[in-house]
Amino acid sequence: MALFNSIVFTIILLLSTSCKATPVPDAPAVSGNSYDVIIVGGGPAGLSALSGLSRVRRKSLLIDSAVYRNGLTRHMHDVIGNDGTVPSEFRAKARDQISLYPTAHMQNGTVTSIVPQDNFTSFLVTDSTRQTYTSKKVILATGLRDILPETPGVKEAWSRGIYWCPWCDGYEHRDQTLGILGSVVDVVGSVLEVETLNRDIYAFVNGTWTNANVAILNQKRPGWETQLKKYGVAIENRTIASINRLQDGAVVHDLATNMEFDRFEVVLQEGIKVQRDAFITNFPYVQASNIGRDIGVKIYGEKMDVDPASMRTAVKGVWAVGDANSDNSTNVPHAMYTGKKAAVFVHVELEREAAATLLDKRNQGDVREIMGTEMEDLWEGLKTK
Ligand SMILES: Cc1cc2nc3c(=O)[nH]c(=O)nc-3n(C[C@H](O)[C@H](O)[C@H](O)COP(=O)(O)OP(=O)(O)OC[C@H]3O[C@@H](n4cnc5c(N)ncnc54)[C@H](O)[C@@H]3O)c2cc1C
Ligand SMILES: *[C@@H]1O[C@H](CO)[C@@H](O)[C@H](O)[C@H]1NC(C)=O
Ligand SMILES: *[C@@H]1O[C@H](CO)[C@@H](O)[C@H](O)[C@H]1NC(C)=O
Ligand SMILES: *[C@@H]1O[C@H](CO)[C@@H](O)[C@H](O)[C@H]1NC(C)=O
Ligand SMILES: *[C@@H]1O[C@H](CO)[C@@H](O)[C@H](O)[C@H]1NC(C)=O
Ligand SMILES: *[C@@H]1O[C@H](CO)[C@@H](O)[C@H](O)[C@H]1NC(C)=O
Repeated sequence: MALFNSIVFTIILLLSTSCKATPVPDAPAVSGNSYDVIIVGGGPAGLSALSGLSRVRRKSLLIDSAVYRNGLTRHMHDVIGNDGTVPSEFRAKARDQISLYPTAHMQNGTVTSIVPQDNFTSFLVTDSTRQTYTSKKVILATGLRDILPETPGVKEAWSRGIYWCPWCDGYEHRDQTLGILGSVVDVVGSVLEVETLNRDIYAFVNGTWTNANVAILNQKRPGWETQLKKYGVAIENRTIASINRLQDGAVVHDLATNMEFDRFEVVLQEGIKVQRDAFITNFPYVQASNIGRDIGVKIYGEKMDVDPASMRTAVKGVWAVGDANSDNSTNVPHAMYTGKKAAVFVHVELEREAAATLLDKRNQGDVREIMGTEMEDLWEGLKTK
């Protein structure tokens, strides 16, 4: 590979020497704003992509609007080496480390449009301050946004007692009384996930126990009602008027045992009140940004469609990583894995395109006499790797 690189470099030198006398009038001005890769979104997925690209000196720009999916959570869990780290500290440390690489660039802002140029061989990226940038490839790491119900108390306690996933915060509420929020259709799935953590479970399905949903359940989970009974799960169908906090686990906790003691009172229609220590939720989500959709990436079930082997979308030059993509895992390790994967594929694709361009130019003439057939031989060798 070192030999290959030095030959590529030699050819670049030769080409630039032989071409320098022919100015191209319409060529865009060489700008400080052109990059190999632009990454949109600076959560763990985007940061991981930037890291992978920076390690091989790809000039990359990460643009981030800083509304992170786990932005409100007290601590991040199940990220080995960082179990219990505050997410903002995790990202800040990543940024500090990545910023030491000279080809890594980071900018705060919101990307408002991405317009393909020259048959998707480059992209014009515009942010909300109308600043423009160009890049040869784009990695979308824009994440998902949770749609929280308007019921008073839910937004206030989101990710602080009303939690999102068992791996994220379930252990901190183990053996406590638990509520499940969301549609009756998703109750069994949640019970199966938390059964090793909580036994006293109440599902507040908030009026979703309808004939239509029962029909879905009978199809999707035959015997669901018996199953819930055997697990001892009570279903409460009355509309939730509010969920009021009685105690804050950020204040009342036990660091030695990793326990957080939140406490809530669910106020149901007719004034009935039920107390719970914590809740797990099944709320819908949407893409946090429309820029993928706008550039033509297919969206399945609110996920950007990718080839899970490469994180590539069907739109040439565009990758999608993290929560927003269709391999359907949504956690920090997955976000980092997909960002890393895209970084490798983007890097190799850029180099293959560069090498192919060099071969094309050679076939047209001048360099051929100087270089012989070494490039073709090398390229053939590379293709089999
Ligand atoms: C309450 C809660 C707690 C969680 N806890 C954990 C946990 O403990 N452990 C775990 O592994 N996972 C946890 N998760 C899941 C975790 O948050 C996600 O898997 C992870 O954040 C996904 O990373 P991402 O980079 O894809 O997206 P995000 O982290 O959401 O980052 C996306 C970024 O893209 C930016 N962006 C979007 N559109 C644009 C645009 N147009 N221009 C510029 N920037 C843009 C956003 O502002 C944001 O900064 C939790 C999730 C929730 C909801
Ligand atoms: C950019 O965003 C990061 C992380 O969200 C933040 O730490 C930093 O202070 C911001 N920089 C500026 C100049 O606003
Ligand atoms: C655009 O690129 C594709 C390959 O990605 C190619 O098949 C197509 O012919 C190109 N179109 C034009 C107009 O050059
Ligand atoms: C409960 O249902 C009502 C009516 O459909 C809805 O407005 C509210 O957001 C729901 N709340 C929760 C917590 O699911
Ligand atoms: C649950 O509540 C909804 C909305 O109020 C109602 O239509 C449905 O009949 C209730 N289901 C049961 C089993 O009582
Ligand atoms: C992800 O989920 C979507 C929609 O829910 C589905 O169409 C797709 O096949 C899933 N992808 C994988 C890799 O399971």
